[in-house]
Amino acid sequence: MKLFVTGGAGYVGSHCVRELCNAGHTVVVYDNLINGGHKEAVDTRAELVVGDLADDTLLERTLASGAFDAVLHYAALLDVNESVHEPLKYYQNNIANTVSLLALMRKNDIKKMVFSSTCATYGVPLSVPITEDMPQHPINPYGRTKLAIEWALRDSADAWGLGSTALRYFNASGAASDGTLGEDRDPEYHLIPLVLQVALGQREQIKIFGVDYPTPDGSCVRDYIHVEDLGSVHRMAIESQEEAVFRYYNVGTGVGVSVKELIVAAREISGKDILASPDVRREGDPPELYADPTKAMTELGWQPKYTDIRKTIETAWHWHSTHPNGYASV
Ligand code: UFG
Repeated sequence: MKLFVTGGAGYVGSHCVRELCNAGHTVVVYDNLINGGHKEAVDTRAELVVGDLADDTLLERTLASGAFDAVLHYAALLDVNESVHEPLKYYQNNIANTVSLLALMRKNDIKKMVFSSTCATYGVPLSVPITEDMPQHPINPYGRTKLAIEWALRDSADAWGLGSTALRYFNASGAASDGTLGEDRDPEYHLIPLVLQVALGQREQIKIFGVDYPTPDGSCVRDYIHVEDLGSVHRMAIESQEEAVFRYYNVGTGVGVSVKELIVAAREISGKDILASPDVRREGDPPELYADPTKAMTELGWQPKYTDIRKTIETAWHWHSTHPNGYASV
């Protein structure tokens, strides 16, 4: 297939682009190289167009000239905490820009899309593990922007025949198993890279945001899904996508890991003392989120390879310890 990939130079996008190229697809990446996008992360078999989704002229020219079969849409802002304080930035980037993209897809008769959604659309779930039929009541602007696009995709299926899949990611984590791609964001705000920065001596300590949650050890529980497993589920979704249907899947391991457990695992893997101290809760954080990924496994035939947090952290540690300054280390 000929694929247009927004955000394909970013953390999740770049791992997926490699998977798509490996499978023989032709890929054009569209990325503004801000917010974690790096040209070095783009597979050499893919074409990179440096551009912003807000640049309607460039976006239209690129889409119109490509004869694309489908779009994979990763580009978005994703800092939950920032979204609480800067909601309009999120509504502009994640909703308005995506609606423009959808309008251009319609104009150019591109009727297949895979969309990076999130488990943050569920808010505080009624119970865990989370299944897709649970109500979606996001508790932060980030989650609300992603849910709004799910609605737009659902409505577009009937109205103009768009076929799309919303993949509701849990916590994207890890790095390429060959050590050549990984997480490189400035400022960094995700738990695993921050913990490993402490191990590398780049940061003094890790703060545990909340130790009084109603969870087994009081810290938040998340489901850390490896980026290469996200790569395979995107490929399976786009290859099986039909027009005029909207599908949605949880993409997680099915295993919940607490912040404290993760720090202990990172100490063992890095062999370093990682100083951690309890801190206040972070706004917008649900206590416990982990997936029931059965639907994606059954309907798409997907099987995550990394279900042990230690294996996932090992790949992240390999990346961070060999790239202490991210892609700039190369
Ligand atoms: N955490 C800390 N200390 C830190 C950083 C994070 O204790 O310094 C905690 C957070 O409170 C949270 C957990 O570690 O409980 C994971 O935090 P991340 O910031 O790494 O990830 P989030 O769960 O907040 O969010 C991520 C993505 C979102 C996505 C969400 C789904 O950033 O895009 O996963 O769970 F929606």
